Amino acid sequence: MAISFDASKKIFKLDTSDTTYALAVHEAGYLFHLYYGPYLPDNNLLPMLFRGGFASFHPNYPNYVNTPYSPDITPSEYSCNGTGDFRISALQIRNVNGDISTDIRYVSHRILTEKPALCGLPSLRSEAGDTETLEITARDHTTGAVVKLYYTVYLQLPVMTRSVVVENDSQYPMDLERVYSTCLELPGMDYDMVHLYGQWFKERTVTERPLAHGMQSIQSKRGSSSHNHNPFVALKQHGTTEENGPVYGINLIYSGNFAIDIEVDARNTARVLAGINPTDFNWHLEPGESFTSPEAVMVFTDKGVGEMSRIFHRTYMKHLIKSPWRDVERPVLINSWEAAYFDFDDDKLVAFAHEAAKMGVDMLVMDDGWFGVRNLDNCSLGDWYVNEKKLKGGLSKLIERVNAEGLKFGIWYEPEMISPDSDLYRAHPDWCLHVKGRENSPARLQYVLDMSREDVRDNIFNQMSAVLANNKIDYVKWDFNRNLTEAGSALLPANRQKEIMHRFVLGTYDLMNRFVTAFPHILFENCSGGGGRFDPGMLYYSPQIWCSDNTDAIERLTIQFGSSMCYPVSTFGAHVAARPRTPLSTRANVAMCGTFGYELDPRKLTEDEKEQVRAQIADYRKYNKLIREGDLYRLIAPTEDHFRCAWQFVSPDKQEALVTSVIMRRPETAYFMLKLRGLDPNKMYTDTATGEVYSGALLMYAGINLTEQIYDDGESIVKYFKAE
Ligand code: DGJ
Repeated sequence: MAISFDASKKIFKLDTSDTTYALAVHEAGYLFHLYYGPYLPDNNLLPMLFRGGFASFHPNYPNYVNTPYSPDITPSEYSCNGTGDFRISALQIRNVNGDISTDIRYVSHRILTEKPALCGLPSLRSEAGDTETLEITARDHTTGAVVKLYYTVYLQLPVMTRSVVVENDSQYPMDLERVYSTCLELPGMDYDMVHLYGQWFKERTVTERPLAHGMQSIQSKRGSSSHNHNPFVALKQHGTTEENGPVYGINLIYSGNFAIDIEVDARNTARVLAGINPTDFNWHLEPGESFTSPEAVMVFTDKGVGEMSRIFHRTYMKHLIKSPWRDVERPVLINSWEAAYFDFDDDKLVAFAHEAAKMGVDMLVMDDGWFGVRNLDNCSLGDWYVNEKKLKGGLSKLIERVNAEGLKFGIWYEPEMISPDSDLYRAHPDWCLHVKGRENSPARLQYVLDMSREDVRDNIFNQMSAVLANNKIDYVKWDFNRNLTEAGSALLPANRQKEIMHRFVLGTYDLMNRFVTAFPHILFENCSGGGGRFDPGMLYYSPQIWCSDNTDAIERLTIQFGSSMCYPVSTFGAHVAARPRTPLSTRANVAMCGTFGYELDPRKLTEDEKEQVRAQIADYRKYNKLIREGDLYRLIAPTEDHFRCAWQFVSPDKQEALVTSVIMRRPETAYFMLKLRGLDPNKMYTDTATGEVYSGALLMYAGINLTEQIYDDGESIVKYFKAE
């Protein structure tokens, strides 16, 4: 049994492949957190609850005056507001009387062998028998709120998930003001908080800071997970490295406003909450209604940050991404955006296809600008019909011509948006998010559709599916180029307006679900002005996401390394672009650590460059399985070294390894030894370029000598090792 309940001690013990999580039920029903960390064979954990130093300023639990416990001090399993716990609360309910005191007590539990799906939200899946789920039902006896806490443990991975459902089991309405997905209590504050910050063009840069007393937090209020912060945090114990030491990783499967809050109290204990951002949030529950939180994924390992990442990668490849494209080589595509922007017509696209086909490219993607009367970014979003002035003879004709060149065809959409200058807006000005009496703030000259509305979603689905069903389209790029402002809905009553940010996300998920169900053969690539919505929620619907609009190979190193903290490289939309500050070879070597494609005008390549592209595509086909299925080792991070960056893929059977190193800036010294990782020390590996044979031990402990093999700005090298 991975999940057990010791009825005498009232302790739940939840074991994954390598970890234990434990909580206790107090005799009055309070839920106390006991432990999360390496696997424990026993459960004698109640002494963990004593935290000493009791004073009058620490309220007692009602009727438990003479106990050493106080809600102010005791580690809570799911902290509630206003009843003696002054630290950050996971749950805050405003009841019909207007007060916000909340207090949940254990009622019952069930251990489930099937992992329940989350209503309207993406979540990790289980496969026959590889998970157990604990459902704890608790109740706030004053408000009548029933709170179900879900914990799923994976039996073959050190992975847990948590989510929460709140039901109104009373006769009165209530308002949920805070409903976090997980609450974790870590004794000790000797941790560094690792997270991913950024902005447009600079997404997911790894940064870290030691925990300090008080609050530290990351959030999005933008209506999407955002370029600025990713819903991911790792807490690594001081001294933990890429290869060694304890680290917790938390990632929220959500694409909207999120918060990950950490409070360190005077006892040097850290409480970590992850969930929907309570700012700008309120959810009104009428009697009988319920609310489901997004799911948080939690990983623990004592084998360093690199292993944490690999655990996330394996988990997402197996249990999150469900596209039929997940486990197969993705088509090498050429995208029209950086090649032509809005300046294209059918002949130009066919000319791209003609040149690209000769180099072995599989697919042409027609990016923004093919619909309505769009020649700039100032109009037509929402008018998803073909601009026949540009595509003379229509879309089917164009696709026929592209197919005749031997390429498949992909298309761009921005389904959640509307241009004020569009037929859709003129017909339905109330279909965009807006609030009464206030002008909308345009961004990129566009507004955001009210995705909470079924009629809006139906309209977009019908328009888009008319195109997708009647044309031979193999790929859709789903873009999202602004954030939410004046976020109100014409259909919601005043007391539900603060639901819109979450309803927007639910609406988007619903629409995505309709598309992936109706068009299962289509490869969906998500995008948000680059990587502004690079999160597990989106990965549930699309197996790849455009990493960043920044296609400079050197800048991409930081972005892709950051993304790899928890997302598998097979999800990174990465292209070779016409950015000549780095050699074409390096641009390809960096894009190879992703889905691979081209973002340039192929007619402008020289004959020599075309030959290089042919060879790059051949390499992609040769190495893609290893890159997609292999384990990633970050050897030298671009944020840690000024000069060099290096990474490596090792096949699951350790028979193959692919190593890439890039010079970001000419180093002080040409001397460069690179130690590999993750190999079998006893296997003999051949360097396929030189024929030299080395033991895995030698490659890992002595390293390979790359001195003078790469030295100048932007140079790179790829080495492929194969075991005999
Ligand atoms: C932003 C995307 O990131 C780009 O790749 C491109 O599709 C543009 N939008 C088109 O407007």
